[in-house]
Amino acid sequence: MCGIVGYVGVRSGLEVVMSGLRRLEYRGYDSGGVALVYEGRIASAKKAGKLANLDRELALHPLPDSSTAIGHTRWATHGAPNDRNAHPHLDSSGSIAVVHNGIIENIAEIRANLEAAGHEMVSETDTETVAHLLHEELKGTHDLAEAVRSVCRQLEGAFTLVIASGRHPDLVVGARRNSPLVVGRGKGENFLASDVSAFIEYTRDAIELGQDQVVSITPDEIVVTDFFGNPAETKDYYVDWDISAAEKGGYDWFMLKEIDEQPQDVADTLLGRHDASGALQLDEMRLSDDELREIDKIIVIACGTSFYAGLVAKYAIEHWTRIPCEVELASEFRYRDPIVDRSTLVVTISQSGETMDTLMAIRYARQQRAKVLSICNTNGSTIPRESDAVLYTHAGPEIAVASTKGFLAQVVACYLLGLYLAQIRGLKYGDEISRIMTDLETMPAAIQRVLDESEPVRQLAKELAGSKSFLFLGRHVGYPVALEGALKLKELAYLHAEGFAAGELKHGPIALVEEGVPVFIVVPPRGRDQVHEKVLSNIQEVRARGARTIVLVEDGDDSVVPYADELIRLPKVPTLLQPLVATVPLQIFACALATEMGHDVDQPRNLAKSVTVE
Ligand code: M6R
Repeated sequence: MCGIVGYVGVRSGLEVVMSGLRRLEYRGYDSGGVALVYEGRIASAKKAGKLANLDRELALHPLPDSSTAIGHTRWATHGAPNDRNAHPHLDSSGSIAVVHNGIIENIAEIRANLEAAGHEMVSETDTETVAHLLHEELKGTHDLAEAVRSVCRQLEGAFTLVIASGRHPDLVVGARRNSPLVVGRGKGENFLASDVSAFIEYTRDAIELGQDQVVSITPDEIVVTDFFGNPAETKDYYVDWDISAAEKGGYDWFMLKEIDEQPQDVADTLLGRHDASGALQLDEMRLSDDELREIDKIIVIACGTSFYAGLVAKYAIEHWTRIPCEVELASEFRYRDPIVDRSTLVVTISQSGETMDTLMAIRYARQQRAKVLSICNTNGSTIPRESDAVLYTHAGPEIAVASTKGFLAQVVACYLLGLYLAQIRGLKYGDEISRIMTDLETMPAAIQRVLDESEPVRQLAKELAGSKSFLFLGRHVGYPVALEGALKLKELAYLHAEGFAAGELKHGPIALVEEGVPVFIVVPPRGRDQVHEKVLSNIQEVRARGARTIVLVEDGDDSVVPYADELIRLPKVPTLLQPLVATVPLQIFACALATEMGHDVDQPRNLAKSVTVE
């Protein structure tokens, strides 16, 4: 949450920072602000609401030009989303500007001490306190980085800080603990940002910062230390995705573009997974085959949509490997005293690689000696760095707050993991694995077909735009699809939408069904006859009570036709792989309905893309 940019170099700092903030706005859009170093002081502007408001403010009250700048786009934690609480925050002399992402946990005491010493705070934020602390530190030194290190040693919690000072032209200092910050290395210019999308327009050479590090950037130098001033190790990497991947490319919404990119993302995530002998190989599998053979339990941990990918994983992993697999919400995991030991494989799933609940679960699991493998879409992010092994999805940057292509790529990665475990534990023959891989390789074309035939789904969304409540039902792997369909609708259309295991219907949720309520039902392929028949009964049960049934069913299955008010046809695919095609119409439906209702699809209210607070 919150996007941060810092720049020193030769260009207009304001332009660089504003263009970076635009790319980071998905991280939070409660307010925006910038600060520039100019003639020994700080010139700043900030405004509540989206960046467009800040643009207007800057047009009305232009700032002087400067090539040293910092900026912030906020997802509010401490204090309401208003102008006063917007970042940057300044110290009392107005010469130090601070932007911050995260929550500082011991701020109350620090703030009380500063106020007792005569500091007056104008906002309700924890960030402003840091500006005042820096003011105190800079009384004893001219070294801004040293002052930042000293402040960081006093802080607890999660923070990325980026600081500019009027007394320090051509210098921006950043620090991170439990919250992301990357460095962009340019020629005669350098960058800091919450993620690389903010600066790939200018450079693709990036540096991963580690935990508890402070970085100073000048136009020609990047110096990284720990919080005590010792030189710190960092990792350089090259950003290989194209700038167009972070742009809308003619679509009205990033979400639409990302939905359309799914066939390619699935293909990319499957790419290069065989060695010359045809055996599966996974990219950063830093766990040995022997270690993986010793595992007697898997716990999949994730949040939101990634959690639903984990629910799909459970069906595939247990079926293919016979290893017991639990799926747990990251925010619950460490608080229930889970049974985890060195023979547990914890699999975390995160698109952003920064979700704090998931990160904390990883740390807990590793303390218990479990091995942690992360499925992640963001190279260089914190979660893969803190895991024993990584399986990257190759979905490219996902900008829309609602996850779409990230989910499909995660599901594919879960299948790959299940097959890999089956391979090394000798539970499947090579030809069996190859057959499933061949099925997987047909999925991009199947997804493309769903996309090509999606116009009726858009029309249906227009028709149902007045409905107040929606239900989604599924069984087996259709159950997580139902949950995902409901989540998409909640977050985009702000409507009551619930996903249920179809078998649970009679245990309570059926009471929600009344005349005309739209109910989406994901019908399993006929291959699973038992489950198929049960879902057929469930459709009849809701229809008998007045529901408008919208049935997602594979080609050629006409058994549902008499009970379906609307039919959404899906390509015939193996049961376990059905989420890859069944989720897509539900994404399209939610996006179209929210558009029809006039909502901002890419930036739904109250949400942010990377949830870096617990
Ligand atoms: O980046 P992550 O995959 O860890 O994010 C997890 C959730 O916050 C995320 O999936 C969220 O539920 C999305 N907004 C859903 O569309």
